[in-house]
Amino acid sequence: MLLRTLRNLVGGRSRSASASTRSDAPVLTLPARSKPDADRVPNFFLPVFWGTQNQSSVTQSVRTLTESLNSGWHFSDNLLTWSRNLSMLDDAPFVAAWQANAESSSDQAIVWRRYILACAAYHCAQLEGDFVECGAYTGVGIKTVVDFLGGPAFSKTFWGYDVFEHDTSMLNHPMPEHGQGLYERVLAKFAGYPNVRIMRGLIPEVFASGCPERIAYLHIDLNQAPAEIAALEVLFDRMVPGGILILDDYEWAGVYRGQKLAEDPWFDSRKYRVMPLPTGQGLVVKR
Ligand SMILES: C[S@@+](CC[C@H](N)C(=O)[O-])C[C@H]1O[C@@H](n2cnc3c(N)ncnc32)[C@H](O)[C@@H]1O
Repeated sequence: MLLRTLRNLVGGRSRSASASTRSDAPVLTLPARSKPDADRVPNFFLPVFWGTQNQSSVTQSVRTLTESLNSGWHFSDNLLTWSRNLSMLDDAPFVAAWQANAESSSDQAIVWRRYILACAAYHCAQLEGDFVECGAYTGVGIKTVVDFLGGPAFSKTFWGYDVFEHDTSMLNHPMPEHGQGLYERVLAKFAGYPNVRIMRGLIPEVFASGCPERIAYLHIDLNQAPAEIAALEVLFDRMVPGGILILDDYEWAGVYRGQKLAEDPWFDSRKYRVMPLPTGQGLVVKR
């Protein structure tokens, strides 16, 4: 794999011509794009989806439908498309990071969401400021991004916040891995990653035990509006110009619709408009 190496100053200092020649500056390694096959477009069919009364009937219907579609079809994570490039599957460094880290069928299914994170992270790695994920859960999302950007050598500090168990005061639904031992398992997962900081506690109170002043990349994935708004109140103003915010659930309806309904007025009052992505995520570029 061809790798391009950039010299970059991180942690509150800006990049500059003189900084780029400093021998003690951390090295940022960006993954090289692999060349897509000009004559072949990939397909992706993994029937993990939500919000239907009849899983097997939907699966069978879409399976039959794909037989009538041109290549470039994708069906997973409630996203059915065709005649798309599926760029994520042609990006070998991303595929390696995603496959090495996926632990569940959901981790496999949300490949397009993961690639949105990876592309945002690629951009943000070249800005001042740290990386943050609110709702680290098993750490798979963080580790996929960090491994895409060089693994343990990734020089930015990545903060991952979670309570790691289902607290009955939380509005969101419990997750399968919640419970005693999850925090320790996530810590162990990042044992060889000196720049990843896993913070246990409820948002927003946990920010008092450590929180970056400057943020380049912010992924908020808390499955509930009050905690997401609380996180935005603390973190959004700390984002650097050009930094990217991804709201994992913004464009999901059903039990997640409350997040969009709460976040729209919050962003309206700051003259931002969230870009709704077909993956169900929302994207904001900080100015
Ligand atoms: C959907 S999971 C996150 C998945 C993860 N981002 C990924 O990509 O694999 C949502 C997480 O948010 C956490 N969470 C929700 N509300 C929270 C709060 N107020 N404080 C801390 N963690 C919270 C839950 O414990 C849960 O682990």
